[in-house]
Amino acid sequence: MTNSAPLNIALIGFGTVGSGVARILDTQAAAIASRAGREIRIRRVVVRDASKPRPFLPAGVNVTTDIAEVVNDPDIQLVAQLVGGVDPAYGYMKQFLAAGKDIVTANKALIYTHGAELFQLAAEQGRTIGFEAAVAGGIPIISAVTQALTGNRILSLEAILNGTSNFILTRMLDDKHSYGDVLKEAQALGYAEADPAMDVDGTDAAQKLVILTRLAFSTSVALNDFVRQGIDNLELLDLQVADDLGYKIKLLATARLNDGRLELSVQPTLIRKDRAIAQTSGANNIVAVEGDAVGMVTFSGAGAGQLPTASAVMADLIDYATGRTAVTFQSILRSAQQPSLPIQSPDELTRRYYLRLNVDDRPHVLADITDVLGRNEISISSVRQDETPEDRADGDARLVIMTHRTNEGRFRAADAELEKLACLRGTSIRLPVAE
Ligand code: NAP
Ligand code: HSE
Repeated sequence: MTNSAPLNIALIGFGTVGSGVARILDTQAAAIASRAGREIRIRRVVVRDASKPRPFLPAGVNVTTDIAEVVNDPDIQLVAQLVGGVDPAYGYMKQFLAAGKDIVTANKALIYTHGAELFQLAAEQGRTIGFEAAVAGGIPIISAVTQALTGNRILSLEAILNGTSNFILTRMLDDKHSYGDVLKEAQALGYAEADPAMDVDGTDAAQKLVILTRLAFSTSVALNDFVRQGIDNLELLDLQVADDLGYKIKLLATARLNDGRLELSVQPTLIRKDRAIAQTSGANNIVAVEGDAVGMVTFSGAGAGQLPTASAVMADLIDYATGRTAVTFQSILRSAQQPSLPIQSPDELTRRYYLRLNVDDRPHVLADITDVLGRNEISISSVRQDETPEDRADGDARLVIMTHRTNEGRFRAADAELEKLACLRGTSIRLPVAE
């Protein structure tokens, strides 16, 4: 360890992630100081409710609800911004940068929404922003893409990027727990966002995919530019039928170079069981990156939770203390100057599909459905109708159709016609099948 002065930091937010950072600093102080070359010392903590007990904090740390105490403290060089959501976190970030402070954050909603502007502001102020914890929790994917893999032209990313939805899909199939119960469990374990809607509707994974796409492909893209679908309409039956057919359903995020254009999607996808992505269970994430020189490299591990996420924040803190952040941040800024790649139209996505329809259990229904698919040039590979106790009780049939390869555009046209069929009951599900 050197004799450098301690690095004074502030924690903004002391929930799952903030308390994890304090816990690592409390239990590993000497080892962290040795790796950082100086002591990392929490000087102030800002929360919503200053009266709650805050474990792992050294005596004398000021806990406040007033952000100005951090902004106006000249001894605080680095702020760990660990409050979720866009507002008020966005305003806080601007105040910290204006006050000449560097920042690390785990907030992907904020980096997705205002990252470009905040990076520019940081550059103008001569400051840095680290955000390793914003994508894939404890997996060091930001440093992989911005440092270790920079000798490559990235060809594709295939990933599970939301721990909560992967936890739900795993527990529903393996333990037959209901969707609602598993979601509550994910919240209790600290995996889910304060508002879990973004975890289960695909938004969180899509925001993380956009952040990775900016870094890996130097391409700026917005959520509305690509297909985004969550797990919130899936039924246990979908997971079971897919399992019978040799697949697991995973919320798959994909970015792939296709004839010079970027194909992007976030969708629950049927993936053959023997693939590592299909075997990624619980709150784990996985990112498979294909580079033109390195080939395929795969990173997997905890995608959410207190210590795994704090591990990523700690890496940012130590990188800052050692001076590495200053170098990496400059290269991220240079990469953002590159021209964006064109985005492939969602209609051109070409895959096989799984289609589950809840329909009246009566003659001619199958004929009506296959007529719509046939007229839209969608070829059927197999049809399956399982009898379930619910079907017998409510007179419904659950029909599962696997198709041959077709494109999203044809299916969107077919969806519109299918929705008008009188035999259809409730929500249908259409999922792609990974190659
Ligand atoms: P959390 O458990 O809900 O904690 C949020 C913390 O922020 C709490 O301490 C809360 O104070 C404080 N806070 C909320 N609003 C505030 C405000 N207006 N001013 C000051 N403090 C405020 O959230 P988390 O799970 O730690 O997540 C924090 C960030 O990390 C989010 O952006 C999340 O997306 C990201 N992240 C989380 C995980 C994970 O596994 N949880 C993983 C990766 C990234 P009180 O304690 O007084 O309520
Ligand atoms: N809510 C997020 C998830 C936390 O479940 O993946 C990690 O970003």
